Amino acid sequence: MTARSTGQSTSRPKVTVVGAGMVGGTVAQLLAQRDYADIVLVDIVEGLPQGKALDLLEAGPVLGYDSMVSGANSYEDTAGSDLVVITSGIARKPGMSRDDLLRTNMGIVRSVTEQVATSSPDTTIVVVSNPLDAMCHVAFEAAGFPRERVIGQAGVLDSARFRTFIAQELDVSVRDVSAFVLGGHGDTMVPLSRYSTVAGIPITELLPPERVKALEERTANGGAEIVSLLKTGSAYYAPGASVVEMVDAILLDQKRILASSVHLEGEYGINGLFVGVPVKLGANGVEQIIQITLTDDEQRALRQSAAAVQDLVDAMRRLAAES
Ligand code: 2OP
Repeated sequence: MTARSTGQSTSRPKVTVVGAGMVGGTVAQLLAQRDYADIVLVDIVEGLPQGKALDLLEAGPVLGYDSMVSGANSYEDTAGSDLVVITSGIARKPGMSRDDLLRTNMGIVRSVTEQVATSSPDTTIVVVSNPLDAMCHVAFEAAGFPRERVIGQAGVLDSARFRTFIAQELDVSVRDVSAFVLGGHGDTMVPLSRYSTVAGIPITELLPPERVKALEERTANGGAEIVSLLKTGSAYYAPGASVVEMVDAILLDQKRILASSVHLEGEYGINGLFVGVPVKLGANGVEQIIQITLTDDEQRALRQSAAAVQDLVDAMRRLAAES
C-alpha cells in the first residue's frame, strides 16, 4: 500500500474546479460523492480552496468515497486535468443583471482560462461564470481550443428549473418530466414547450396556453428569483448539480443529449456565437450539435436570444478596445 497525499496522481480522471465559491464548492462536493474522479479546487483566496478541499476529504469516510480533493492557489497542481470547470467571477446581487457582471468577469475568465490552457492543453472546459454565453466566448478565445472542448453550462440548469415548475404544476414526479430550454442564459432564453413533456406527452397538450406561458416566464426569470430571495448572491445547488450532469456525460462518455452553450458555426442559422442548443456530450466533448425543427415563432425567439448574446460580445470588444 502506498500513501495517497494531496497532489499525488492517481489513475482516476482529474477534474479542476476553478473558483471555490458556492458553485465551485457544490460542484466539488457532488463530484466527490460520485467517487470516480479526483478534484483540485483552485481559488485566489489563500486558504479557501485548501479549507473546503480538506473539509470535503474528511466527509469521505462518512459518505463512503475515496475521491482525492485538494486545494490550490495556483495552477501547478491542476496540470493534466481531464476536465476543468470555470466558476470564477463575481455573482449577481439583487437588482443586477447577468450583463452587469460583464466587465469584471471577462477579465477574470480570460486570465483563468489562459492558465488552464497552459497547464492542461488537452482538457475540456465547462464554463459556468456569468454572463454565461459571453464568458464562453472569452474562454474559447483565450484557450484557443477547438469548439468541441469549450462548453457552457446553462441549458441543463434552465431545463431543470422548467422541469421543476412543470412537475409542481401538474403534481407529477420530476423524473417523468423532460424539458428543453434553448438560447442564451438570460431573459431572452427560449423554453421550448412543444418539446417539453411529461412521460412523452407535450405540456402544450396538458396545460392551457396561459399556464404554459407562465411557466416559461418563471423559467426565464429563474436565476433572478433565487437572487431576490437570497439577497447576497445567486443560486448554487441547481447550477452545481447541472455542471456535474455535464461532467458525468463527458468523463463517463455517456453520449447524453443536453442543452449546452456551444460555438455555433452555421447551425440554426447562427454563425460565430455561443448559444444554447441540444448537443451530444461524450468523451470528445461536444460530439454532435442536434438541429431540431423550429416553428417560425421559436426560430424568431432563438434569433432574438442570439442577438442579445451578440450585443454582449460587441460590448466586450468595445471594453477590450478601451483598456
Ligand atoms: C443562475 O441562473 C447563477 O446564472 C445562474 O442562477
